[in-house]
Amino acid sequence: GSSKILIKGGTVVNAHLQEVADVYVEDGKIVAVKPNIKVGDDVTVLDATGKYVMPGGIDPHTHLAMDFMGTQTLDDFFSGQAAALAGGTTMHIDFALPVKGSLIAGIEAYEKKASISCMDYGFHMAITKWDDDVSREMEVMVNEKGINSFKFFMAYKGALMINDELLLQGFQKCKSLGALAMVHAENGDAVFEGQNRMIELGITGPEGHALSRPAVLEGEATARAIRLASFVNTPLYVVHVMSIDAMEEIAKARQSGQRVIGEPVVSGLVLDDSKLWDPDFITAAKYVMSPPIRAAGHDKALQAALSTGILQLVGTDHCAFNSTQKALGIDDFRKIPNGVNGIEERMHLVWDTMVESGKISVSDYVRITSTECARIFNIYPRKGAILVGSDADIIILNPNSSFEISAKSHHSRSDTNVFDGKRGKGKVEVTIAGGRIVWINGELKVAPGSGKYVKMPPFSYLFQGMDKADAEYLRSLRAPVKREIISTV
Ligand code: URP
Ligand code: ZN
Ligand code: ZN
Ligand code: ZN
Repeated sequence: GSSKILIKGGTVVNAHLQEVADVYVEDGKIVAVKPNIKVGDDVTVLDATGKYVMPGGIDPHTHLAMDFMGTQTLDDFFSGQAAALAGGTTMHIDFALPVKGSLIAGIEAYEKKASISCMDYGFHMAITKWDDDVSREMEVMVNEKGINSFKFFMAYKGALMINDELLLQGFQKCKSLGALAMVHAENGDAVFEGQNRMIELGITGPEGHALSRPAVLEGEATARAIRLASFVNTPLYVVHVMSIDAMEEIAKARQSGQRVIGEPVVSGLVLDDSKLWDPDFITAAKYVMSPPIRAAGHDKALQAALSTGILQLVGTDHCAFNSTQKALGIDDFRKIPNGVNGIEERMHLVWDTMVESGKISVSDYVRITSTECARIFNIYPRKGAILVGSDADIIILNPNSSFEISAKSHHSRSDTNVFDGKRGKGKVEVTIAGGRIVWINGELKVAPGSGKYVKMPPFSYLFQGMDKADAEYLRSLRAPVKREIISTV
C-alpha cells in the first residue's frame, strides 16, 4: 500500500471528542487531523463521508500459537492477526507462557513465533509457578522486554494454577515493578472437585464443563483476588469476566475506591451456554472455554456493566481450535481444549450489541475497544487515538452497512466459529495498520513481518499516587469500610 493516505470527510471519533475532519497519514503516523486538507496526486484518497473514522481496535486478550491442553491453538501470529485486521483490530496483546518455568525462555520463544506478524502486538507474561528465579526474571521482563503485566492463574490445577501464598508474592512483585497483576479468577481446587463429581455421575459431555465450574466459583476467586490485591495495595486486572457473580465483586471493589479493572470478552457478552447441551459433541464442544459461557442473563448483565463503567474494556480471549482438536475430549469434557474465537468478530459484535442497540455512544465504543486498553497498558496516545503523532492504526466503519459472521468466510484457520450466523449493522470497510491499507473492498493485503513489537512501559496511570497512599492505606485497613450493596440490574 501507499505510505501517504488522506481520509476525507468522515466523522473522526476519539474517546474524548467527535468531529468532522480529514485525517492525513504519512510514513505510518497521523500527520494532520483537520477539515479540508489539500494534498497532491501521489496520495491515496479514501472518501469517508457519512462514516466513522476511529482508532483501530486493540484486543487486550489473545492466545496465538499457544501450546495448551496437549495441542496448539490454531491461529498463529499471521493468521490470527490477518483475521483481526479483517475485523478492524490493529493491535493485540498476547499471553506469552514460560518455557520450562523460565520467563526468559518463554519470551524468546514468543519473539520467534511473532516474527511473522502483520500487525502490531505486545505481550503479557503468564506466571505459572513462583520462586526466586521467576521473581528475578520478572524484573528482566519489565526492565528489558517491554512487558508491564503478568497473569496469574487461580485455575487449571496441576498445570498453570498457583496458590494464594504465591499469588500474594506475585502481586507484591508486580507492585514493586509498577506492573499490572492480572488474574484468571476461578477456584481451581473447587473446579477439580466439581470435575471429579461430574465424572462420578457419568456426565462426560461438554455440559459437564459448565456444571463443574459454576459462576459461584468465579465469584469466589474474583473476590479473593480483589481482597489480596487490596491487602498488597496494588491495582488488579480481572481477565475474562464471564458472570454476574464476578462482575458484582468488581463493582463493589470499585465503589469502595479500589483500583480494579474488569475485562469482559465478546463471547461472554453475546452468547449463552445453551449450545453446551447440544447432543452433537462438536457443536457443543466448540463453546467450551474457561470460565464457561454462562446461562442467558449473565450476557445482558455484563453488557449493562460495560455501559455503566463497572467494566472498562472488551477483549476476546481468542484461542481457536478446530473440530479435530475439540474432539480430543470426545470421551471426557476435561480433555476438550478450552477456548473460543473472537479476534475478527469483536469490533462488529460490540458495535452491534452496544452502539447499534443504543447502550453506549460512539465515543464510548472507541474507549472500550481501543483507548482504555492503550491507557491501561501505558501506550496511549501512541495507540488508541486519532491524534497528530499517533500511529496510523485507523478503521473506517460504515454504520449503514451490515456484517454477517460465517465459519466459511472468516479468516481464522478454524473450521468452526462460535458466532456463526450472527449478523448486524455496522461494517468495518477499511483497516489501516501502521499507515498501510490492509483491508479494503473485502480484501486483505497483509505481509508477514510487517507488524512491530510494542514495548509497554511500567507504571501506568493506575499506579499514580499509590506510593503516597501506602502508609495511610495500611492504617485505614484497621477501620471498618462502609460498603453499600449496589444493584446493576
Ligand atoms: O478457555 C480459555 N479461556 N482458554 C484460554 C486460556 C485462558 O484461560 O485464558
Ligand atoms: Zn484465563
Ligand atoms: Zn485467555
Ligand atoms: Zn472476514
